[in-house]
Amino acid sequence: MKRTIVLLGPPGSGKGTQGEKLSQELGFVRLSTGDMLREAARNGTPLGIKAKGYMDSGALVPNELIINLMKEKVASLGEGVGVIFDGFPRTVEQADALGEQIKVDLALNLDVDDDELINRLTKRRSCPKCNSVFHLEYNPPAKPGICDKCGAELYHRDDDKEETVANRLKVYRKNTMPLIEYYEKRGILQTIKGEGSIDEIFANVKKTVL
Ligand code: AP5
Repeated sequence: MKRTIVLLGPPGSGKGTQGEKLSQELGFVRLSTGDMLREAARNGTPLGIKAKGYMDSGALVPNELIINLMKEKVASLGEGVGVIFDGFPRTVEQADALGEQIKVDLALNLDVDDDELINRLTKRRSCPKCNSVFHLEYNPPAKPGICDKCGAELYHRDDDKEETVANRLKVYRKNTMPLIEYYEKRGILQTIKGEGSIDEIFANVKKTVL
């Protein structure tokens, strides 16, 4: 089984959804930079205060902040623990920094068309407490507006508004898409179609990991 996995894919491609399923079924630790930054922003930490403006506009948070944050997280992982990086790396500089610290076994790229991404993000609802995600049509919570897992009130992320989503897609193409070639050259890239039911996609994800 692959032990160190980078999830690649545009905003809304299902990195969080599939990463969470991998973590629950196969016991991986999931490290999501987006979740970490949102938590820091909610708690008003120095990192959160610096990151919030970038996130709300759909821009990337500066490399040095993210690289320092992830260096600490990776250093604290136990020996032999399986880990999924969700939303990191997002630039070649971040990928180089990660590669210096840990050997990546698989870069799993989820491929989804733009129209579908916009639909998914503008109708996504997120839990501020346990980070679960729902979709108003495809994956609705049992009780409208309430998280199935922890009972907290769901919210619509500021960066999931349509104008910001368009900017996030632009930023993804410019800064993060080059990582597809980066990992392809290293012989560890696998691309999976990220459209279809969550369970169908997960079956394919598992095949590439096991
Ligand atoms: P982050 O939180 O990482 O956002 P993202 O990469 O844009 O990804 P998303 O969380 O939006 O989507 P996802 O691919 O996880 O999809 P999900 O599973 O939720 O980052 C946010 C911001 O933080 C960035 O813009 C940046 O500012 C900053 N940041 C984070 N990391 C950084 C870094 N490394 N460097 C610099 N800055 C960084 O699914 C989406 C929706 O679709 C959900 O509603 C879900 O229920 C639904 N869905 C999922 N799968 C399916 C399916 N198969 N069919 C139908 N619906 C589905």
